[in-house]
Amino acid sequence: MHFSLIKLESDHLDQIIEVQSLVYPAGYHESADVFHRKLSTSDASGHRPIAYGHRDDEYGLLASYGIAHPWISHEPPPMHSQNWALPAECDIVHLHDIAVAPTFRGRRLATALLEKIIETAIADGWRKMTLVAVRDSWPFWEGLGFTTIRPHDYVGERGFWMQRLLVPMTTAAH
Ligand SMILES: CC(C)(COP(=O)(O)OP(=O)(O)OC[C@H]1O[C@@H](n2cnc3c(N)ncnc32)[C@H](O)[C@@H]1OP(=O)(O)O)[C@@H](O)C(=O)NCCC(=O)NCCS
Repeated sequence: MHFSLIKLESDHLDQIIEVQSLVYPAGYHESADVFHRKLSTSDASGHRPIAYGHRDDEYGLLASYGIAHPWISHEPPPMHSQNWALPAECDIVHLHDIAVAPTFRGRRLATALLEKIIETAIADGWRKMTLVAVRDSWPFWEGLGFTTIRPHDYVGERGFWMQRLLVPMTTAAH
C-alpha cells in the first residue's frame, strides 16, 4: 500500500467525518460544523490550524487525519461544545485528534502525521502541544514523547490531558 501525505482543508470535511465514524463510537463524534471551525479558525495572532492526512493512493480514500489548533495552556478545550470558538489569547497548540482508519493501522501513519504536525507547529512558532488521550491511547502518546498533566475524563471514560514540548521528533522528546 502507498499513501500520500496531504494537507487537509474544509473541502475534506466529508472524508474526515467518514474516518471519524469508522474510528470512534457515536458518543465521541464531533459535528461537521465544529470540525469546520477547527479546520478554518485562526487565532488573534494569525496562527492557523494544522491539519494533515494520508490518502490511500490505490483507492483515493482518506486513511488518516490529524488536526491541531491554537489553544490555551491552562485547560483543555471543552468537549462537544456547539459554540466552539478559539480563546482570545492562545499560547499553545492543541492536538484535537489523530485517527487512522482500522484497515490502515500499524503502518506508522499516526507517527508520520505527528511528525509533520510537530514540524509545522515549530515553524509556526509554537513551543508546546497538548492533547486529551482517550480510548486508553495514553501509552501510544507516551511513546511519542507526551507526559500526563492530569486525568481528564471524556464522555464518561477515563482520559488524560497530556503535553509535549515542541522539539523535532528525531531529537529528544521531552
Ligand atoms: C492510536 C492510533 C492513532 C495509532 O495509529 P497507527 O498508525 O496504527 O500507529 P503507528 O503505526 O504510528 O504506531 C506507532 C507505535 O505506537 C504503538 N501503538 C499503536 N497504537 C497504540 C495504542 N493504542 N496503545 C499503545 N501503543 C500503540 C505501535 O505499536 C507502534 O509502536 P512501535 O514504535 O513500538 O512499533 C490508531 O490506532 C487509532 O486511530 N486509534 C483509534 C483512535 C485513537 O485512539 N486516537 C488517539 C485518541 S487521542
